Amino acid sequence: MMDCKPRMESLDPSSTKDSLLMDVEGILYPKETGMYWEEIQNFKARPDDLLICTYPKAGTTWMQEIVDMIQHGGDPEKCARAPIYQRSPFVGCSFLISIPTSLEKIDAMPSPRTLKTHFPVEHLPPSFWDQKCKIIYVARNAKDNMVSYFHFHNMTSIIPDSGSWDEFMENFIAGKVCWGSWFDHVQGWWKAKDRHPILYLFYEDIKEDPAREIQKIAQFLGIDLSASVLNRIVQHTKFENMKTNPLVNYSDLPSLFDLTVSPFMRKGRFRSLKSISPSSHFILIITQ
Ligand code: A3P
Repeated sequence: MMDCKPRMESLDPSSTKDSLLMDVEGILYPKETGMYWEEIQNFKARPDDLLICTYPKAGTTWMQEIVDMIQHGGDPEKCARAPIYQRSPFVGCSFLISIPTSLEKIDAMPSPRTLKTHFPVEHLPPSFWDQKCKIIYVARNAKDNMVSYFHFHNMTSIIPDSGSWDEFMENFIAGKVCWGSWFDHVQGWWKAKDRHPILYLFYEDIKEDPAREIQKIAQFLGIDLSASVLNRIVQHTKFENMKTNPLVNYSDLPSLFDLTVSPFMRKGRFRSLKSISPSSHFILIITQ
């Protein structure tokens, strides 16, 4: 289990030496990820693994649940077999157990496995490339992603508190947050899709037309969905339903996620950049 954070810890990388984050080749990671870097990099992917990859707070859990529903014929009972973090475990970070133990558990899972990660393209364990694993990448617009990440920092004991909004925004823009720069992440994976089987999706597209995007995912996985199954998946994975589903809303891990500070499923919205701009500096940077 990871350390508990000092509540007012700063995100300043110079202060992370003894903190919850560790710098690996210029990118900040949870400390345990850095400590077990070699073990993680030596992770043995299998050719039939499916990897869901995102920048944190881009809709990972949403995609994990959609994929599990697709793989189980839209049957919510089958998806209720375990919490989402056990059905598609996190490669490179672990919530409740140490990383070596979590890697052992993932190793022991029967094929085909669905896994999740937040690694930027350059730090993905190489066996995923070697084994040509299918990857679903979800990107979310920078502003909503940043707002969601800001709130997440303050409700979880896994990473440091955000600091003030302005401080957090500066750190986010500079890529000095856990899992690195949003800009490099979305661009790195965008380029990677030209040389690897990657389905690159956008949070906003899923929000706009979930049935259309779920069909794309099913096609990528080689699964046919009837109209009724598709409809069940759309209904089951609606924001309102995920928010109240204890198997996906992380309400079972109160020592790690304090839902009284902020729910894990907070607003699930896509807002126009104009209407929520706190800073012209930010807009200038992300529209460049
Ligand atoms: P907000 O904080 O903006 O509400 P992740 O799973 O990568 O940590 O992402 C969490 C974000 O995805 C949260 O965003 C959460 O509300 C949103 N989300 C989760 N399920 C969703 C759904 N079914 N529809 C829309 N957004 C969803």
